[in-house]
Amino acid sequence: MTEISIKNLCKEYNDAPVLRNVNMEISGEEFCVIVGASGCGKSTFLRILLGEIQPSSGEIRIDGRPLPPEPGPERGVVYQRYSVFPHMSVLENVMLGPGFAASPLLGRLSGKRRRAAADEAMHYLREVGLDHACSLYPASLSGGMQQRLALAQALIMKPQILLLDEPFGALDPGTRKDMQDLILRLWRENRMVVFMVTHDLEEGFMLGTRVVVFDKIPSLKDGNENSGATITYDIPLNGRRKPCD
Ligand SMILES: Nc1ncnc2c1ncn2[C@@H]1O[C@H](COP(=O)(O)OP(=O)(O)OP(=O)(O)O)[C@@H](O)[C@H]1O
Ligand SMILES: [Mg+2]
Repeated sequence: MTEISIKNLCKEYNDAPVLRNVNMEISGEEFCVIVGASGCGKSTFLRILLGEIQPSSGEIRIDGRPLPPEPGPERGVVYQRYSVFPHMSVLENVMLGPGFAASPLLGRLSGKRRRAAADEAMHYLREVGLDHACSLYPASLSGGMQQRLALAQALIMKPQILLLDEPFGALDPGTRKDMQDLILRLWRENRMVVFMVTHDLEEGFMLGTRVVVFDKIPSLKDGNENSGATITYDIPLNGRRKPCD
């Protein structure tokens, strides 16, 4: 079971506050949906969790230990737009993570280890329904297929935490519905904490075990809006669904 503790997290960019005193406790494999107005700091929050940027103050602990200051295999990420490598086949894209884990300089495996990584990559491609496309290149995949590929790429590293930044924002409604079903199944099977940013409230309430609203807080002193955003609502939906349901 994953425990995440976020205490008084603040982030400023060039002295401009973006996040102010964000507090959150997560216990167990929650599906935490994050909503909020454009520019209120949702992606910034995910990038801090990923270790891509550092908070200005505050602390994040995972299972009691400080969050590692750099991205690592225990935290996967999928963005709205494609984060896959265009010059590599679908299979090679998924094998890349294990390759770099085993051989940080070259990212390539050989012999038995390469075959084992290919078998594992095929397993995750089957999980996301892309095994039939393993030898294609990303340019010939639809948007939904590219997002499935990005999910397989993240999942093969067996992340404890999966960060999704508007992952279905660029998809048509039919594909989006399929991807919502897929992400719920993957979350249940892989027992991860998911943080997912969406602008679609209906999607948030349908997928989440918890919906967290970020909003800017007016400055107490002068009423201006530039004092950063914090969590203004934290709505538990746990009664409805648990990972093992
Ligand atoms: N690297 C950066 N340097 C300076 N300012 C930044 C940087 N990244 C983001 N910002 C600013 O921080 C604020 C929050 O940005 P962020 O991307 O986190 O918002 P968001 O809630 O994800 O917005 P959206 O819903 O549009 O994706 C914005 O005002 C943005 O301009
Ligand atoms: Mg964003």
